[in-house]
Amino acid sequence: MDAKTKRSLVLLLCLCLHLKTHVCLAADTIDANQSLSGDQTIVSAGKVFELGFFKPGNSSNYYIGMWYSKQLVSLETIVWVANRETPVSDRFSSVLRISDGNLVLFNESNTPIWSTNLSSTTTSGSAQAVLLDSGNLVLRTAGSNANTSEPLWQSFDHPAHTWLPGARIGFNTVTNQTLILTSWKSSEDPAPGLFTLELDPNGSNAYLIFWNRSRQYWSSGAWDANSRIFSGVPEMNHNYIYNFSYVTNKNESYFTYSVYNPKTISRFVMHTSGQIQQLTWLEISSQWNLFWNQPRKQCEVYDLCGAFGSCNEVSTISCNCLTGFEPKLQRDWNLQAYSGGCKRKTPLHCENATSADGKQDQFLKMVRMSLPENVQSVKVETIAGCESICLNNCSCTAYAYNSSGCSIWIGDLFNLQESTSSDSQGITLYLRLAASEFKSPKSNKGLIIGVVAGSAAGIAILLGLIVVVILRQRKRVTGTGKAVEGSLVAFGYRDLQDATKNFSEKLGGGGFGSVFKGILPDSSVIAVKKLESVSQGEKQFRTEVSTIGTIQHVNLVRLRGFCSEGTKRMLVYDYMANGSLDSHLFHDTRPNVLDWKTRYQIALGTARGLAYLHEKCRDCIIHCDIKPENILLDTELGPKVADFGLAKLVGRDSAGS
Ligand SMILES: *[C@@H]1O[C@H](CO)[C@@H](O)[C@H](O)[C@H]1NC(C)=O
Ligand SMILES: *[C@@H]1O[C@H](CO)[C@@H](O)[C@H](O)[C@H]1NC(C)=O
Ligand SMILES: *[C@@H]1O[C@H](CO)[C@@H](O)[C@H](O)[C@H]1NC(C)=O
Ligand SMILES: *[C@@H]1O[C@H](CO)[C@@H](O)[C@H](O)[C@H]1NC(C)=O
Ligand SMILES: *[C@@H]1O[C@H](CO)[C@@H](O)[C@H](O)[C@H]1NC(C)=O
Ligand SMILES: *[C@@H]1O[C@H](CO)[C@@H](O)[C@H](O)[C@H]1NC(C)=O
Ligand SMILES: *[C@@H]1O[C@H](CO)[C@@H](O)[C@H](O)[C@H]1NC(C)=O
Ligand SMILES: *[C@@H]1O[C@H](CO)[C@@H](O)[C@H](O)[C@H]1NC(C)=O
Ligand SMILES: *[C@@H]1O[C@H](CO)[C@@H](O)[C@H](O)[C@H]1NC(C)=O
Ligand SMILES: *[C@@H]1O[C@H](CO)[C@@H](O)[C@H](O)[C@H]1NC(C)=O
Ligand SMILES: *[C@@H]1O[C@H](CO)[C@@H](O)[C@H](O)[C@H]1NC(C)=O
Ligand SMILES: *[C@@H]1O[C@H](CO)[C@@H](O)[C@H](O)[C@H]1NC(C)=O
Repeated sequence: MDAKTKRSLVLLLCLCLHLKTHVCLAADTIDANQSLSGDQTIVSAGKVFELGFFKPGNSSNYYIGMWYSKQLVSLETIVWVANRETPVSDRFSSVLRISDGNLVLFNESNTPIWSTNLSSTTTSGSAQAVLLDSGNLVLRTAGSNANTSEPLWQSFDHPAHTWLPGARIGFNTVTNQTLILTSWKSSEDPAPGLFTLELDPNGSNAYLIFWNRSRQYWSSGAWDANSRIFSGVPEMNHNYIYNFSYVTNKNESYFTYSVYNPKTISRFVMHTSGQIQQLTWLEISSQWNLFWNQPRKQCEVYDLCGAFGSCNEVSTISCNCLTGFEPKLQRDWNLQAYSGGCKRKTPLHCENATSADGKQDQFLKMVRMSLPENVQSVKVETIAGCESICLNNCSCTAYAYNSSGCSIWIGDLFNLQESTSSDSQGITLYLRLAASEFKSPKSNKGLIIGVVAGSAAGIAILLGLIVVVILRQRKRVTGTGKAVEGSLVAFGYRDLQDATKNFSEKLGGGGFGSVFKGILPDSSVIAVKKLESVSQGEKQFRTEVSTIGTIQHVNLVRLRGFCSEGTKRMLVYDYMANGSLDSHLFHDTRPNVLDWKTRYQIALGTARGLAYLHEKCRDCIIHCDIKPENILLDTELGPKVADFGLAKLVGRDSAGS
């Protein structure tokens, strides 16, 4: 490199650095003569947290928020929001600055829309805002010692939905200030939602989750100061990460916590699902790991699904609208924020006689439902009488009749839940709907069958096409093997001999044969297991192999194909870059190769893989030989169980020996 190039390189670097100082206010502080706007941010001294404008998801609104610095947590994770309810749309013409001793956000038309709201008497001197490494944004008198002087204002006193180590949940009896967590409305709207976590306002020391600050649906139970756990959270006994403490005096009562290992990145979140979640950052997989959440069951969250919604514990989508209803705010439902509830597709006859075919409303029978809120009982002797009472009152939306009599519901139905089929609990509810919602089954049957048959045929053709396309691609990619049974590749012996350089690189040997590393022509890396003492004929071998091939799970090693030529029998698997667990546990001399978080994840993943193998897949297989040698680790140290289903391939005798 000549001197000239060097010079221009230095020049370029300087330019970049110069540009960077424009984007980033150099420091962790907003001084009286500074302001923050556009994509400028401040970063705490130890580069833990960053503060600036952000946009949640696909929303077009901008908020002042705090997140972990990207060096620490690569996923954008907002922990605090200033202007939760007053977003701006143009962050470049909005400005956050010190004004009259307060930190104030001004919108596009220079109107203050958020402020630290201190009266001017408390802020006589000039103030500055400092972002601390704890995630606390502090307003203090300029030049004062941050270590000793009380802050004028701090974000820890105004928590949003995240509880960071060192922050408090509780209340101050002098100022009447409450420190509570409030969920976001949805993943795209940080405005306060319905769910809160707070300290028992009656002063007993437990924390509680509320719906709309009125209805309690979960409690931690009382705090036991000796064992330092909550009575309702016995799993805290095994907690080796968090150190909780409870402080109470005549001025204030609060819970706070710290993490034993200061390197642990951890947070509590009051989630939009109404569950309190405890998450830790897993550097290895670059994701947040859900450590703990409550209430365990999604449907225990009070009125999760809103009016005329019903909660379902089994399906992945927790909320559905009842028959005849549709989401009020489809966009929110897509974001899994269900509390807006559902609205009628067709108005009732009693509400609007013209739009409901002029026919009387009818009742839809719904079995195994939980009782909705706000039931009223009526003294009637028969189910017909019960129905008639409901039908004759336009506000009546549902009724039920059983041994204890007639129950009716007036107005919107809340907190409905479908019982699982195994669970014989639940009542039969009759839901009022417009007559047009009841299609005559006879006239539609032919049509329905036609549609079903038609779409089934369509799907079959489509699937056929997809399979053909996949087969063709597979052939082209591997160039060697023949595809069989749609998902497995039948390799020739020569192909595998070439791929493994004549079985030269041995990875290991198990009870069923040795394993070799190989590289296919498409440069994917494989592990080839040469089976010994296979007693089965080719046909039976292929049948068994195709069964194993259908078993697929993230925590099970994937079978890619096999080879069956003459007496030779081989299995071809994905190659696992990090080898087996035992090599890390027992043979790795480097210290701390697997930290506790990773070990925990490996245990969890292995259990998931086994649970799938034992219970969830179509042809269940009992592993019988689970040990560290059979737990392989992928590039991200994710565990994959290996060597399942082989006992059936090799003879019973040799498997038993
Ligand atoms: C901002 O104010 C600080 C202290 O009041 C001062 O040291 C600094 O020079 C000022 N910066 C500018 C750009 O005026
Ligand atoms: C955001 O928009 C992208 C592109 O339009 C879309 O793929 C994605 O699903 C949207 N995300 C959400 C949460 O709506
Ligand atoms: C700024 O905020 C004020 C008060 O909320 C509002 O009336 C005004 O329309 C906002 N300006 C813009 C450009 O949104
Ligand atoms: C500041 O005070 C005003 C009026 O007292 C209130 O409307 C506003 O919500 C407060 N803002 C904050 C951020 O507390
Ligand atoms: C505050 O405390 C930290 C560590 O205890 C120390 O490094 C720093 O110098 C202190 N700051 C002041 C202004 O005293
Ligand atoms: C706090 O609340 C109590 C009761 O609601 C009230 O009597 C008292 O004046 C309040 N104190 C302050 C500082 O607002
Ligand atoms: C607080 O105490 C009152 C009166 O004893 C009771 O009605 C209320 O349910 C209690 N609140 C909670 C959250 O326990
Ligand atoms: C929650 O409480 C507020 C104030 O008490 C009320 O205006 C609002 O309608 C409530 N929301 C729901 C969904 O009940
Ligand atoms: C747990 O926190 C309390 C209160 O902050 C502290 O006194 C105690 O030493 C901590 N325990 C450990 C093991 O760090
Ligand atoms: C309570 O507050 C008063 C006044 O702010 C203060 O003097 C006192 O020391 C506080 N008591 C405790 C136990 O913190
Ligand atoms: C009744 O329904 C018809 C047709 O949908 C509509 O035009 C009319 O405005 C509705 N009347 C009332 C009172 O809702
Ligand atoms: C419907 O029933 C409710 C509750 O029993 C009652 O308050 C209301 O007056 C009734 N409405 C009519 C129109 O009868």
